[in-house]
Amino acid sequence: MLGHTKESHHVTRRLQRANDDAFHHPAEKIAQLKKFDFINGEILEVFAGQGNLTKYYNTKGRVTAMTPAKFGSSFDAIHRLRADKRTFDVIDIDSYGYPDKFFPVVFELMKREAHLIFTFPIVGVNCLNGIVEQHFINFWRSARPTIGDITGVLTDMALREWRVLSLVEAQKIKRIWRLVYRCTRTKATDFTTTKNR
Ligand SMILES: C[S@@+](CC[C@H](N)C(=O)[O-])C[C@H]1O[C@@H](n2cnc3c(N)ncnc32)[C@H](O)[C@@H]1O
Repeated sequence: MLGHTKESHHVTRRLQRANDDAFHHPAEKIAQLKKFDFINGEILEVFAGQGNLTKYYNTKGRVTAMTPAKFGSSFDAIHRLRADKRTFDVIDIDSYGYPDKFFPVVFELMKREAHLIFTFPIVGVNCLNGIVEQHFINFWRSARPTIGDITGVLTDMALREWRVLSLVEAQKIKRIWRLVYRCTRTKATDFTTTKNR
């Protein structure tokens, strides 16, 4: 345990279920989104929840807001979007817990130039056990992933789809990071400076 008791973890879960703003931070998230000019695009919201961000995104483009009521679990629904060959200008993953299960599929759901935004709970203030810790090592290559670890793992994953990732904004909001990446599709021949014969 790192600064959290089992009881406080249960309280956190209960308040999250009750959609308490203290665990969503909609004002801070929207203030960060306002730094970007997402106009007239296709926007995908994963774990759209009670729609705090949906209201804002609706003023910016056509929003696919994945709520359990409309789409079932986002973990499954995201694969249906891939099967339907949907692509987006903005993908926002605002899950409780870690976004890991949405990778690498999100990189197949992007237009040529796209932004990826996601919430990552900061390790060190969360209740860790050995299994979670090993998962971090397996997935993020570190027991305490830093923004650099996350960016490194995602950069390699994105390159499988010939997408070059750049971190354009990182904001700490209480116990989470909100990370914004620009993802640009590149041509394999340009990337490798190799000519197709
Ligand atoms: C961090 S909140 C999202 C907040 C949202 N972006 C907003 O601004 O209102 C995560 C939400 O995802 C919902 N959720 C939990 N499990 C889910 C799942 N498997 N698929 C889709 N949504 C889920 C929760 O009920 C919760 O409302």
